[in-house]
Amino acid sequence: MPLNIVILAAGQGTRMRSELPKVLHCLGGKPLLQHVYELARELAPERIAIVYGHGAQRVLSRFADWPVVWVEQALQLGTGHALQQALPHLHENAMVLVLYGDVPLLRRQTLAGLLGAVGEERVGLLTTTLTDPTGYGRIVRNAQGEVVRIVEEKDARAEEKAILEVNTGVLVAPAAKLKTWLARLDNANAQGEYYLTDVVAHALADGVAVISFPAPADEVAGVNDRRQLAQLERVYQRRQAEALLERGVTLRDPDRFDLRGRVEAVGRDVEIDVNVVLEGRIVLGDRVRIGPNVVLKDVVVGEEVEILAGSLIEQAHIGPRCRIGPFARIRPETQLAEEVHIGNFVEVKKSRIGAGSKVNHLSYIGDAEIGARVNVGAGTITCNYDGANKHQTIIEDGAFIGSDTQLVAPVRVGREATIGAGSTITQDAPAGKLTLSRCRQITVEHWQRPKKT
Ligand code: UD1
Ligand code: CA
Repeated sequence: MPLNIVILAAGQGTRMRSELPKVLHCLGGKPLLQHVYELARELAPERIAIVYGHGAQRVLSRFADWPVVWVEQALQLGTGHALQQALPHLHENAMVLVLYGDVPLLRRQTLAGLLGAVGEERVGLLTTTLTDPTGYGRIVRNAQGEVVRIVEEKDARAEEKAILEVNTGVLVAPAAKLKTWLARLDNANAQGEYYLTDVVAHALADGVAVISFPAPADEVAGVNDRRQLAQLERVYQRRQAEALLERGVTLRDPDRFDLRGRVEAVGRDVEIDVNVVLEGRIVLGDRVRIGPNVVLKDVVVGEEVEILAGSLIEQAHIGPRCRIGPFARIRPETQLAEEVHIGNFVEVKKSRIGAGSKVNHLSYIGDAEIGARVNVGAGTITCNYDGANKHQTIIEDGAFIGSDTQLVAPVRVGREATIGAGSTITQDAPAGKLTLSRCRQITVEHWQRPKKT
């Protein structure tokens, strides 16, 4: 029997108080709907259908490349109505698994457990037990402990509200049967909606067994407001931290670590201090050490690199044994070879810096090609922008740039050249020679400070 998955994502998310459709809000830097979609993909279904509605254009354009069937539910008349819109687009002999676009923390094993327990003829519900079940549909059982129906909070009597076992919303059922049950739904309830949960009663009336499968409570929490979004973010980040700890990474405090992307590879004995944010695709070599308050986005870091406190590095390649920071900013398209030192208050953009070179203090290096063993003195600036275009600065191997130098690009400093401190270099500086542009120092004899009158 083919597996088809339907993700319900048409709801408005009123309580988010947002311009953005709820399912586009991010958890760990990734939209809620994407978490659910990626989970669905892990189950290798024959088909995925996504029911969308609120914020239709934004949702569609964001995920236009997904190989799914998009089903519009123009009016949100309830979860049963939503699934009914999707059914004509499903395989008629499929087992249908329903997921919610705003329940992002479910795990593959849990869904696999549910699917395994249900088999091919029955209806399966993923349920969980909460100490505070407010807001959820309650699972009503008979004296034999069999599920007899689900009652929504707003329709529940006092004794039903006391039930702690709740409906997570995740349901599995055969498509052909679902079709007849959904056709029988009505909206005679407190919310005037077509409830998907009412299929339970119809299934039992048709003699089809309904089973439940338990889910860990931390997997089935949904996002209805920003407080829940923040709570789920912590759960998600804690999971990611645990996974990194298992991969052998030292995290000084797993509760003060954020991953908004993926650590694609990590070496041995990597150490990460507190308040580090990793975004995008990250590779960390053996024995990399990352200090507190560091942000890395799409970075490859070679072995034994040390990144000191407060540094921000984006779209860069950091060679082995480099030392960066504290308070360094490395911008996109930067490549550092091995043992490069980038010190405090240094900004590097779209530049390549060769092995063993140092830019240790207060500098701007942009659109530059710097060789090996170059020493760039404090306060050096590549003047790469003339107000209209960007130009390149080339500094060859072994050059020494004195402090407070401006290199007005395009310009080249030759091999082993020395630039005297305080120079404004507007023409190429020849290899092996001292070049400087500096007013001669004079001392004015007999000069006197003015006096107050
Ligand atoms: C639903 C369940 C409830 C369960 C809870 C778990 C029903 C009737 N109730 O209630 O038993 O405990 O989820 O979180 O199913 N949606 C649509 N179209 C619609 C309505 C909803 O696509 O017309 C989508 C929403 O975008 C959301 C999901 O379905 O992703 C759930 O809808 P929501 O309104 O949040 O249902 P609950 O009232 O929370
Ligand atoms: Ca909900």
